[in-house]
Amino acid sequence: MNKTKHLIEPKDFTVEELDDIFRLADDIIAAPMKYLEVCKGRLLASLFYEPSTRTRFSFEAAMLRLGGQVIGFDDPSASSTSKGESLADTIMTVSCYADIAVLRHPREGTAKLASKFSPDMPIINAGDGGHQHPTQTLTDLLTIRHYKNKFTDHVIGVCGDLKFGRTIHSLVKAMSRYKNVRFIFISPEELKMPQYILDELDSASYTQTNNLEMVIDQLDILYMSRVQRERFVSEEEYLRLKDYYVLDNTKLQKAKNDMIIMHPLPRVNEISVEVDDDPRAVYFQQAKFGMFVRMALIMKLLNLEVER
Ligand code: CP
Repeated sequence: MNKTKHLIEPKDFTVEELDDIFRLADDIIAAPMKYLEVCKGRLLASLFYEPSTRTRFSFEAAMLRLGGQVIGFDDPSASSTSKGESLADTIMTVSCYADIAVLRHPREGTAKLASKFSPDMPIINAGDGGHQHPTQTLTDLLTIRHYKNKFTDHVIGVCGDLKFGRTIHSLVKAMSRYKNVRFIFISPEELKMPQYILDELDSASYTQTNNLEMVIDQLDILYMSRVQRERFVSEEEYLRLKDYYVLDNTKLQKAKNDMIIMHPLPRVNEISVEVDDDPRAVYFQQAKFGMFVRMALIMKLLNLEVER
């Protein structure tokens, strides 16, 4: 019998396992009708203790498009959490009903903790505080694969809130496994990449700056991010930093013609809407890839296959 596999952080999958997920996602995109019933009779529990649009909707859409069904909540005050039930008890209860669970929680480490109480039901981390967001990384990698055809030999500019941006932490961990990937971390001093992430990188693989315009011409990929208001202790500090970077058509004039502009979304002000019409802007396509890669992930974690 297969041991239950959870997805808590990107490195829970080897590079080879990731390639398999991306090949499956490609096949789902090419022939979605083949997959209409693969999850028939299966239930996904969608446990969102924090707001979400893309992650929740794309997971729910993914399960429904695979022929499965979805239960869950997007407001924990409507669950027995509001009566004081522990996360452990919630997970053990949900695993009596569901085959797989997606969990978003404001506290770092919650998905890992939940997995300890779920010996049979795979737990997928849909974001734990400012820590990790591995399924956004699957989305990001599928996007890079689609537009750049490879994961190696890229200069990636990561711009914005590098301190609290969990999508960024996961992306950097995942991309650092590929050859000749160089990061330029672009942030104000107050929102620099945490040292624990830097410590995992080869020091020759990254540089840090606060000046986007100075480096934009070097980039193959520009990954923009929102300043994470919900993680700030001081509203005043958030207001001071929130518009530090605003990508617009003027700033893009110096960028390479084949650079791609990514963003996990939601966006606030950090990308001007005028940029949406630039062919290098791929962030809404990125959101769409999120659903396909989550379909592939659900199948992989439930050990389901169809003939390809
Ligand atoms: N990218 C992302 O996680 O978006 P949501 O917060 O809307 O799920």
